[in-house]
Amino acid sequence: MDIQTIGVVGSGTMGSGIAQVAAQSGFNVLLYDINLKILQKAIGQIGHYVRRSAEKGRITEEEAEAALDRIATTTDLLDFKRCQFVIEAAPERIDLKKDLFHQLVTATPDDTILASNTSTLSITQIGGGTGRPGKVVGMHFFNPAPLLPLVEVVAGAQTDPAVVDTTFELAKQLGKRPIRVKDVPGFIVNRVARPFYLETLRLLEEGVADYRTLDKLIREGGGFPMGPFELMDLIGLDINYAASVSVYEAYFNDPRYRPSLLQQRKVQAGQLGRKSGRGWYIYDKDKSS
Ligand SMILES: NC(=O)c1ccc[n+]([C@@H]2O[C@H](COP(=O)([O-])OP(=O)(O)OC[C@H]3O[C@@H](n4cnc5c(N)ncnc54)[C@H](O)[C@@H]3O)[C@@H](O)[C@H]2O)c1
Repeated sequence: MDIQTIGVVGSGTMGSGIAQVAAQSGFNVLLYDINLKILQKAIGQIGHYVRRSAEKGRITEEEAEAALDRIATTTDLLDFKRCQFVIEAAPERIDLKKDLFHQLVTATPDDTILASNTSTLSITQIGGGTGRPGKVVGMHFFNPAPLLPLVEVVAGAQTDPAVVDTTFELAKQLGKRPIRVKDVPGFIVNRVARPFYLETLRLLEEGVADYRTLDKLIREGGGFPMGPFELMDLIGLDINYAASVSVYEAYFNDPRYRPSLLQQRKVQAGQLGRKSGRGWYIYDKDKSS
């Protein structure tokens, strides 16, 4: 399949990272979000990261500018008619994703592949009812997308095997290391990662240690690059909480995956991590409420 233009839906943490990877790999990118202000912020951030790569000598200045020139933005999904491949990175809500995939099926040609970057939701459910479930696939990048090599390629119950193969090949063209996984809640990495967050949240709830100490212990004692609270701030507490709720519900309320009330309160308070200026830690006093 000849992929020239990749559509990316959602220009937040993951969408902007995926758009950057695709543009730096030579693809034209059409980046969608719900308003221009959000898109401008995303383009500013991508520009910052790409130019910083040039400053560090990883790419030339010409390569940096050429990659940035390949990214166009839109607030109209109908513009996706020129995309051969779409990667959706909108909030982790099944109603929202199902609605988006419905719109994408109408907006794109019949052979366009529609991939979701969902962390935990069912690809079978996202594809079901679209009228084009064979073209719907999971393509799960990790944060930060420009740096982390793993991509989980997820076949839903009705995904065409050729679509899975094309997605796998595309991930390789994006410089990633894809693996094929089954459509189970949380796939592999997010299922394995649940206790990492949830058990440390429970330790905090039980007053065993404060979050700074827990991060320090796991980082320095366990040899992890980041502690769980630092990682939740990087991921976004809303996204991390939504992933926990989704896995918990999908496994029929198995208590092993019970989400944390403490984390729910942080989300309700709008303390979402780095993206809002404050989560467990404070990053940008101007942004935090
Ligand atoms: N954050 C992570 O570490 C991470 C890692 C892997 C996968 N994911 C998955 O990627 C997806 C996006 O997560 P994120 O962290 O980038 O979230 P985010 O909150 O940073 O960004 C979401 C973006 O979607 C936009 N949006 C809101 N409503 C929309 C709509 N109706 N249509 C299109 N766009 C809309 C928002 O304006 C925002 O720019 C989720 O499914 C999440 O589970 C996240």
